[in-house]
Amino acid sequence: MPGPLSDPGPDRGPGSLDDPGLDPGPEPGAEPGPRASFLDSLFSLDGRVALVTGGSSGIGHAMARALALAGARVMLLARGEEALGRAAAAIRAAGGAAAWVRADLADPSATRRAAEETVAAYGEPDILVNAAGANPRPPLGDQTLEQWGDVMAVNLTAPFVLGQRFGPAMARRGWGRIISVASQQAVRAFGNSGGYGASKAGLAGLTRSQSEAWAGHGVCCNTVTPGFVATPLTATVASDPVLCAALAARTMIGRNGEPADFEGVTVFLASRASDYITGQLIFVDGGFSVT
Ligand SMILES: NC(=O)c1ccc[n+]([C@@H]2O[C@H](COP(=O)([O-])OP(=O)(O)OC[C@H]3O[C@@H](n4cnc5c(N)ncnc54)[C@H](OP(=O)(O)O)[C@@H]3O)[C@@H](O)[C@H]2O)c1
Repeated sequence: MPGPLSDPGPDRGPGSLDDPGLDPGPEPGAEPGPRASFLDSLFSLDGRVALVTGGSSGIGHAMARALALAGARVMLLARGEEALGRAAAAIRAAGGAAAWVRADLADPSATRRAAEETVAAYGEPDILVNAAGANPRPPLGDQTLEQWGDVMAVNLTAPFVLGQRFGPAMARRGWGRIISVASQQAVRAFGNSGGYGASKAGLAGLTRSQSEAWAGHGVCCNTVTPGFVATPLTATVASDPVLCAALAARTMIGRNGEPADFEGVTVFLASRASDYITGQLIFVDGGFSVT
């Protein structure tokens, strides 16, 4: 009769934890062995160039830092120079390579100029991360056409413009990654989704279109879809402890997200490890979306 799952049983064959022959792994500081080079071949971003919009703050900054520490040279794009300078300096202090370019993504000509400045500084990007987002949510009935246009410009048109600038070049080189940051409102309406939800649903659709256009040439395009993360963008909700607790309770893991929760998925989606994953919405939300 097999014992309970917690009982390892009397027969502990080779490879069990108390087997004296079990390989203890490399000593700290030892030359990289086959395991390290396997992990490197899957996840290393050495020699890659990445452009990260919204890389000066919150989720985008964590994504940019992760790409840089995995080996990529990273260009941060946002409007605020001071935050950009601080964010790039923090990445460099951690051992990564980062620079920044200032642009308002609501303006397509400024977006195009920033794209060319990125190329001039680092060469053609292999990885584009669309993390910048605008989130004004007046009640839908009150939303002016101008407010609607502003949200669409930053959340949807800028990823289109940057994708059109870089996607075909990535396809010609036979490898690339476009990672966009969507939202729960891409797939469901709650919390006054308004124009923001419509723009994020559009971003999920744009990701599928980009994937259809370029994935056949090695350019994988996916969205990362957060739950609730306290950042400057969500400061109003974050300042309400009751609402924050209710959002945390709705996850399966039992807490709200942190920017650092996006490091692993970003390196994964930017690396060779995700060569066969494209067109997807990857929920990084502690299970929020499946409750
Ligand atoms: N936090 C959440 O709970 C949550 C949930 C779902 C989805 N998201 C999405 O996650 C992404 C990152 O948001 P976050 O929460 O990390 O926000 P955040 O910390 O406020 O960062 C937003 C970033 O976007 C930049 N940005 C905003 N408008 C811009 C514009 N017009 N042109 C250029 N850059 C602009 C900001 O810099 P400047 O202001 O200096 O330009 C900043 O770097 C957004 O796309 C957001 O919709 C967040």
